[in-house]
Amino acid sequence: MDGLTIVSHPLVQHKLTKLRAADTPTSVFRALVREIATLLCYEVTRDLPTELARVRTPIAETDAPVIAGKKLVFAPILRAGLQMAEGMLDLVPSARVAHIGLYRDPTSLQAVEYYFKTPEDCAERLVIVVDPMLATGHTAIAAVDRLKEAGVCDMRFVCMLAARPGVEALRAAHPDVPIWAAGMDEQLNDHGYIVPGLGDAGDRMYGTR
Ligand code: URA
Repeated sequence: MDGLTIVSHPLVQHKLTKLRAADTPTSVFRALVREIATLLCYEVTRDLPTELARVRTPIAETDAPVIAGKKLVFAPILRAGLQMAEGMLDLVPSARVAHIGLYRDPTSLQAVEYYFKTPEDCAERLVIVVDPMLATGHTAIAAVDRLKEAGVCDMRFVCMLAARPGVEALRAAHPDVPIWAAGMDEQLNDHGYIVPGLGDAGDRMYGTR
């Protein structure tokens, strides 16, 4: 699908299957989310521009590549995105973090905002929005809307598991925001859960059900 990258690396796929399993315990689930996020981060940053910097090795001076431009921003959608942001920070510790507090109204399935905090100069940075599940797309669209209102113009969206309707909705609302996912399922159930999916990512991560 245009604008969607499924990261098909065997390690990512293996870990996603373990995430799906209903008998995976909370602590393992949380560790897997973090590990997959690190691997997805590697892919979503693959084309970052680099520039040469002078470095002195123990043997000689040379010019070697470093990442150019301002530091990245990871923007987890609370609460389930937090653990993904930690996995990405393992790989890019100097990144900034924006927090986006949105929850899905269980009846309307629409996103409701309760918290929003970004670095002041986020308009000049690449912002990587993270949420484990792209289901209906309502929350993702609301997060991207809000970041655009704050001036962000360069964004990418990363999730563990996408559903086709959510991908189509996010791509239709924000065609300038490419998506990375470890997998995509075809359907949602009547409660907006991905089928077969992996259940409620936040509850499984934090043991709240
Ligand atoms: N959020 C989840 O945690 N799981 C789904 O299947 C859909 C949305």
